[in-house]
Amino acid sequence: MKAIILSGGKGTRLRPLTYTGAKQLVPVANKPILWYGIESIVAAGITEIGIIISPETGAEVQAKTGDGERFGAKITYILQDQPLGLAHAVKIAQPFLADSPFVMYLGDNLVESQLDLFLDQFKTQNLDALTLLCEVENPSAFGVAKVDQQGKVLRLIEKPQNPPSNLALVGVYIFAKTIHHAIANIEPSARGELEITDAIQYLIDQQQKVGSFRLSGWWLDTGKKDDLLAANQIILDSCLESSSQGSVDEQSKVTGRVSIGGGSKIINSNIRGPVTIGDNCHIENCFIGPFSSIASETTLIEADIEHSVVLKGAKIVHIQQRIVDSLIGERAQLKPATQRPKALRFMIGDDSQIELI
Ligand code: DAU
Repeated sequence: MKAIILSGGKGTRLRPLTYTGAKQLVPVANKPILWYGIESIVAAGITEIGIIISPETGAEVQAKTGDGERFGAKITYILQDQPLGLAHAVKIAQPFLADSPFVMYLGDNLVESQLDLFLDQFKTQNLDALTLLCEVENPSAFGVAKVDQQGKVLRLIEKPQNPPSNLALVGVYIFAKTIHHAIANIEPSARGELEITDAIQYLIDQQQKVGSFRLSGWWLDTGKKDDLLAANQIILDSCLESSSQGSVDEQSKVTGRVSIGGGSKIINSNIRGPVTIGDNCHIENCFIGPFSSIASETTLIEADIEHSVVLKGAKIVHIQQRIVDSLIGERAQLKPATQRPKALRFMIGDDSQIELI
């Protein structure tokens, strides 16, 4: 069994953060989303992993993730020249995959359940494809499945206007080599992409064995800000362990589960976990509330922040109001120009959103 992780694509939905960076590298609890997928694949005993990358962000993904040694895996990078669809990504990965069955993991998805369960079902039922399904409130935003009472998949439709059910296709699939023949027989969709959903539908139409697994745990497609914050909350809530390699002065109060990276200084601040703070941060006269992830090399002085994700190198100083539910990009700066600001002055990138609540 091999695995591919799709980390190409355009990533337009997390703009402006992903104009420059790969959306799969945006951190959740200070760890790139992509790495959760890698860890979950390795935990299921699969160590041969191909990562699909794009010309725009591939070098960054590769530089950050490396050859796989740190995960106990062997990673091969596969360049997809254009984001021509999930099935197109499988097509270009075919030389890597050869005839092996494989797990396909979308690099912007986070799934709680363990892959072993799905692999067992795939093997024992001798399937051509196993899909993971999860009930959602907005099925039109996903691939949607119509299943019979036994869970047999009858029909799959990509982002339907009138969804036949509320069962979304989760971005983790397991395939036998028969998927390659299916992909060779489909046409690009209306949005110009070779859809994996259509390839699975082809298998169904050819009476091949397509099974489904109904997820009961959480699943997050982290493509949008609120999903990313939700993912951050869940991971901090369920996985964070307290640790401190930084320094915390006597005036500071740290409660709950908090992890503080090496070289970080916490001065006269109140940190209420779960909170994770990266390396070499300067945090002074701050309140940092639950479900916040503060990446490395950030400076927070007289700031009050909770339920937010702050990326590397950001600077937030002397902001009087509490910052909530926010995603602050790398090296972004929030600071008043004078001691008692009377007006707001912005330099904001395209597609940014500022809400005064
Ligand atoms: O998240 C689950 C959904 O993922 C499914 O319900 C849909 O059926 C499936 O089509 C997919 O929909 P999205 O519109 O969310 O896919 P997105 O374009 O965001 O791409 C998913 C990942 O694959 C992302 O990490 C980028 C990468 N990708 C995407 C394309 C189109 C590639 O590597 N190459 C590509 O050509």
